[in-house]
Amino acid sequence: MFHHMDKIFKYPRMYGAKLWVIRNVLGLPARLIADIDITVETKLAELSELSVADIGCGRGELSQQFPNYVGLEVSLEMIHYCREKYPDKIFDLIKNGTLPIQDRAVELSILIYVLHHVQTAQERIELLKEASRVGRKIIIAESIQSESPVLHPVKSFYWMLTDGGFHYHTVAELHSLFEAASLNICEEHISTPLHQLYWAILEHHE
Ligand SMILES: C[S@@+](CC[C@H](N)C(=O)[O-])C[C@H]1O[C@@H](n2cnc3c(N)ncnc32)[C@H](O)[C@@H]1O
Repeated sequence: MFHHMDKIFKYPRMYGAKLWVIRNVLGLPARLIADIDITVETKLAELSELSVADIGCGRGELSQQFPNYVGLEVSLEMIHYCREKYPDKIFDLIKNGTLPIQDRAVELSILIYVLHHVQTAQERIELLKEASRVGRKIIIAESIQSESPVLHPVKSFYWMLTDGGFHYHTVAELHSLFEAASLNICEEHISTPLHQLYWAILEHHE
């Protein structure tokens, strides 16, 4: 059961303004030094032929990139916003942690910058299991916490000011979540030099 949601996700337009600032102001120095050729955006562009469920779709921006798309959200306000903005696409509400689509309905489940906004580790594992129930593969992207005693508090402070998620995982923590949800890593990438951004393609194992 997912009880708590960050308040900003009830205000799609305000969230859009925040995204703009993060992408164009705060994120600019990071983008200048990161290996931008292998970002999750590049990877998603390679996968655009696949049918997808965009879980935690936010403002539904990815709906324009995938012809065969369904967007899913816990925020009713985001769903209303997306339905109005992209009337030709399907957007549905997630209730009680269950994704409103059938087993293996899509080829790819998308979980982009969602996991750290889910409150407890158990709920994160359940969400991963749901993602692998509906999609043959999962693509996940997350901001990565550092193991370094110096960088850890710096990153936490930055996220406290700019993001407000519940928990930012180290790579090792992500790996244990995947294991707990019976997911194998098919491909993974950690950006250099700051190890800030992570994406992986996951697949269910028995
Ligand atoms: C940082 S936004 C990312 C939105 C979008 N994926 C993107 O990359 O622009 C996180 C989104 O996850 C949604 N969310 C929070 N908890 C969730 C949950 N348990 N299941 C699905 N989505 C959730 C929020 O409502 C919010 O829209």
